Amino acid sequence: MKVDFTLPKHIGIIMDGNGRWAKTRGKMRVFGHRAGMNRLKGIVKTASDLGVSALTLYAFSTENWRRPKPEVDALMSLLLEYFNNEIDELHVNRVKIRHLGELSGFPKNISEVISSAIEKTKANTGLQLSIALNYGSRLEIVSAVKSIASDVKNNKISIDEIDTELISNRLYTKDLPELDLIIRTSGEQRLSNFLMYQAAYSELVFVKEPWPDFSDDLFIQTLREYSERNRRFGGI
Ligand code: FPP
Repeated sequence: MKVDFTLPKHIGIIMDGNGRWAKTRGKMRVFGHRAGMNRLKGIVKTASDLGVSALTLYAFSTENWRRPKPEVDALMSLLLEYFNNEIDELHVNRVKIRHLGELSGFPKNISEVISSAIEKTKANTGLQLSIALNYGSRLEIVSAVKSIASDVKNNKISIDEIDTELISNRLYTKDLPELDLIIRTSGEQRLSNFLMYQAAYSELVFVKEPWPDFSDDLFIQTLREYSERNRRFGGI
């Protein structure tokens, strides 16, 4: 697959609107999450075919545990299903999987399936697919600050050595390219604790369609919109 414009290297997506998508069809929210998982598969394939370097998907935030237990359980089973069913194809397509967030909060079967997907694909050189799960930007920053403070206390680094690069290297996104673009579906216009440090110079695109309706065509249209933006990074 080829496009005639410059692609972002690293795209973050807030996959919002599964619940509302289901509601407008008179269905349970879980039905929307299943449709969302199917759309996730399609967008990952398209990003990989286009040759995008990195795609980061916000699948479950540190706040999502507050949802009713049946919904949390359904999301966990979808996750399990996704990794179990897709891992072989992802691997064939040379996708490298990583996880952003704290795995420790998950049931053992989930953390195992994620760890094994990461291990299996660690040498792959295609799309870097990061799934943000039990992820929160504030917690990510807290953990970076703690790790830096501990290094200062133990005289491993001096306060003067703390700079933006050092901080970037303590975040879950360490070694990933700069975040060029954030897409949020379903018409909401906020970051919701997603990659706040990394978003410093990202372009933001908000699309009105809920995530299950975010077609490949809409995705490519969004990437084109990004390519037409004039990025100045604070310059003129
Ligand atoms: C937001 O929609 C979506 C989520 C909180 C979960 C995202 C999950 C998926 C796309 C499917 C499963 C994921 C994987 C990794 C297999 P919402 O429920 O907040 O929708 P609403 O705002 O309309 O209520």
